[in-house]
Formats: sequence, C-alpha cells, structure tokens
Amino acid sequence: MTKSLSKYLSQGYERGVTQERKADRWWDCIVGRKNWKTGEPPLINGWIPYLGKALLFRKDAFKFLLDQQKKLGDIFTVHIAGRYITFIMDPFQYVYVIRNSKQLEFHEFADKMASKTFDYPALSNVKFPDLKENLHRIYQYLQGKPLEIISDHMMKNLQDIFEWKCSQATDWETEKMYKFCCSVMFEASFVTLYGRVPAADGRKVISEIRDKFIKFDASFPYLAANIPIELLGTTKKVRKELIHHFLLQNMTKWLGGSKVVQARQDIFEKYELLGDYDKAAHHFAFLWASVGNTIPATFWAMYYLLRHPEALAAVRDEIDHLLQSTGQKRGPTYNIHLTREQLDNLVYLESALNESLRMCSSSMNIRISQEDFVLKLEGDQEVSLRKGDWIALYPQILHMDPEVYEDPKEYKFDRYIENGKKKTTFYKAGRKLKYFLMPFGSGISMCPGRFLAMNEMKMFLFLLLAHFDVELGENKAVRLDNSRMGLGILLPDTDIAFRYKLRSLRN
Ligand code: HEM
Repeated sequence: MTKSLSKYLSQGYERGVTQERKADRWWDCIVGRKNWKTGEPPLINGWIPYLGKALLFRKDAFKFLLDQQKKLGDIFTVHIAGRYITFIMDPFQYVYVIRNSKQLEFHEFADKMASKTFDYPALSNVKFPDLKENLHRIYQYLQGKPLEIISDHMMKNLQDIFEWKCSQATDWETEKMYKFCCSVMFEASFVTLYGRVPAADGRKVISEIRDKFIKFDASFPYLAANIPIELLGTTKKVRKELIHHFLLQNMTKWLGGSKVVQARQDIFEKYELLGDYDKAAHHFAFLWASVGNTIPATFWAMYYLLRHPEALAAVRDEIDHLLQSTGQKRGPTYNIHLTREQLDNLVYLESALNESLRMCSSSMNIRISQEDFVLKLEGDQEVSLRKGDWIALYPQILHMDPEVYEDPKEYKFDRYIENGKKKTTFYKAGRKLKYFLMPFGSGISMCPGRFLAMNEMKMFLFLLLAHFDVELGENKAVRLDNSRMGLGILLPDTDIAFRYKLRSLRN
C-alpha cells in the first residue's frame, strides 16, 4: 500500500474507537463491508479491493446510479474508494436529508476537501476559532442590497469588456465560444470581486492569472478525487503561483474591489496564526468558487441559445423590448442599466438559463453521518446509517427524469415559463415536487453566490444579444465532458467557433 493511501485511510478513523472496531473499519475500507446490518440499504461492494465501484462510478456516475436504481430501488449504498456512500434517489426523500443538518454534517467534509485542494490550513483547526462561522457570515454581502451593488459593478465591468469587443467587431469576427466566455467572465468577475489591476499592463496580469487558473482547473477533478497533487504534473507549481498573486502586497494595489472580498480580508487579518500564504490561498479558493462553475454555465447558456434559433429570437425580443420600454439605447457607447426587478422579469432569459443549467449541472450534495443512527424518511420508511457514512443526493438524475421533465434530453428554452410567468410547479407521479432544479446545491451546502451567478450570466447574455448578431461558426455537436460528474457544472468536450458582428442600430 502506498504511503499516501495508508495515511488517507488512517485519517478516516476517529479517536476513541476500539482497536477491534478500527480493525473492522480497516477491513471495510480495503475489502468492502463484510457484514450487512438489518435496516441498512442494499450494499454494492464491488470486487476490487479498496476501490470498490470507484472506476465504474467515475466512468459514468449518472448511468451507474440509474442502473443500480433499476436493480435495487431508490436507496442503496455503494463502496467507492474506501467510502460508503448511500444514495437517496427519490426526490421526495431529499427533504429528509436536507433538513437533518445535525446528524448529517457537511462543513467538515467540505473543509477537508477545500483546504487540501486550495492549500490552506483547515478552518476547523483550533488555532482559528470561529473562522468558519465568520466567513459564512460574510455571505450576506452576496444578498439583498449588497447584491444589487455588486451586480451593478459586474454590469459595468462587463460593458467595458463588450465595448472593447464592439470596437473590434464592425464586421463578422470569429472566436471560439468557450474561450470567449472564459475570457469575458473571468475578467469581469475578477475586476468586480478583487478590483482593477492599475498597472499599464493590468489587463495582461489578469489574463496571466486566468491562464494559470485554467491549468489548475484542469486538475481540479483529480484533486477532488484525492489524488496527491505531486502526481499531477505542474499543478502544484501553478497553484503556488496563483496563490502568490493574492498576497496582501499585491491585493492592496488593486482598485475598487468588492465588499465581500474586503470583508474576508478584514477577517483574515484578525487571525495572527494564519500566515500570509494561507490568507492568499483563501482568496484564491474564493476566486475558484466564483468562476469555476460560472464560466462553463455561461458557455452552455450561450451554446444552447445559438443552437436553437427560436430560443435566440424569443430572448432577444425580450431584451429589445426591455430596452425600448425603459428608453435605453443599445450600442457600444451607451451605458445600459438594469434594476433587480428588470433582471428578475426577464422570464424568457431566465427560463433559457435554467434550462441550460438543468442540462449541464452535475453536483453531488454530500452529507456525512455523525453517528450510527436511523434516518427517518417519508411514508414510515427508514434507513440505518453508520457513523462516517456519506449520504448523497444526485440531482442530475432528477434533472433528467422523464417523469418530471418531458423529453429531458431536449433543450426547451421555455420549460420554466407558464402563461407568460415563471413556472415553479413540477410534478413526479402526479405529486408536486419541492425540489426540481438544484444546480446550486441544497440546504446547508447551498451556494452563497447563486443570486450573483444568475445575475452575471443574465447580464452577459443581455449584453451579447443587445450588441451583436451572433451565430455558430461550425456545425458540430458539443457534448458534456463527464470527467466532472458530481462536481458541479460539466465542461464541454470540445470548443466551437462562433461569429459575432455589431448589430445594426436601426433594427
Ligand atoms: C453557475 C454558477 C455557480 C454554480 C453552479 C455554483 C454551485 C455551487 C455549489 C453546488 C456549491 C456547493 C458545493 C458543495 O455542495 O460542496 C457551491 C458553493 C459555493 N459557491 Fe457557488 N456556484 C456558482 C457560482 C458562484 C459564485 C458566482 C460565487 C461567488 C461569487 C460562488 C461562491 C460559492 C462559495 C463561496 C461556495 C462555498 C460555500 C461554503 O462555504 O459552504 N459560487 N457553489
């Protein structure tokens, strides 16, 4: 057994457990659970020591889970890389997992994974009392009035970039779509959150950070799978360089950053035992959270719109109508301002965006059982869980359920509209669902940046369609790359060319 594997396994054992129990768990991790207990869900061990079903799960988690569901029903436990994960497949049971945040914990797991991936000391370390709670409190800056302020800044920064793009696109201009979304969203998000880099080559500095970010992000699924960073080529070096950009001496030079980042900085300063590098690593982690999913989600929203002319026409019509009715002119030199209500009322744009999120998101909502206990479920059902077991919801199954969404593989831009208004009632087997669209997670692990993310993507599409005629430049299908299944928004398996040209102001 490799050193890193044995260390990883030993981390799973909590203090105070008897030697006998430790031996039992050791056996469980390596060979698979030998004893099934009454009340526990059906167990799929797999025959490969330690890995269990990891390879099949990693190859295509969606298919694997559907196959197991057909065989074993809506609740089952799978042995995956030394862990026992109980999947709850029935969306009507989700609520029983989501609301039980006492016995089913999330933060400890997230802390372990994030601190390792982004190279900062765990928040739960006794050296940093209340750091986790303090950082969570700051998420208030991504809601309410502060959300409006940060959204306005994002709109302004997006417009600056689009204005620059406009000056280049008086005739048809061709670019790769993912690259385009990445460059626009990364720069606008960076400037909005962290501020403008004032040097003459400020834009270049941001694009250097972006290029390193793309390299790091390519290794993200491996890091999330607990593969040691030393085995991932230059990733460790790239991560270190990225983190160095966020050292205080660099960040203090950046102008006009956001309240949320400033507040995080103020909190870090209160912790003397948090080193300069550690603080910078936290800032880098926040950057990753803010663009890692938003960039691919923006790509899919744009790609599906361009693939479906009727969707593109309806959304553009809605945008033009809003501009007209509010007396705003489009064109590179005019500043467009959108209030929160106006953004909220773009029902076609929102529906199209939700539809692409339904199709491209694949996040697994994980909780960890804090004790041996019986989880009560709907209809007198119950399931016995052991301390340390993982419980997982896998909303991609819900998103692609033909009982909930007719023709789930088809993009229907107006799926989330009913009688001209937002549609929020979806049914399965004749029963209304509480949860029907979950790209941003659930309960205690719900994304704090979800409102900003939706605004950012709406604003990007708004400006793109207000300013440009846009069309696909290649006739090829782009598919989901499954290597991030369970980790958030899936990336496209290839990039695709598109063309854009400044729209005539007369139309
Ligand atoms: C389409 C865009 C986005 C998607 C799909 C998304 C999705 C998610 C999901 C599913 C989680 C929970 C992860 C888990 O369960 O382990 C999460 C966490 C998080 N997201 Fe987002 N996110 C998006 C954009 C953003 C943005 C724009 C920000 C900030 C500006 C942000 C900040 C965060 C943070 C800080 C966390 C960790 C929260 C914690 O400490 O528990 N996200 N996101």
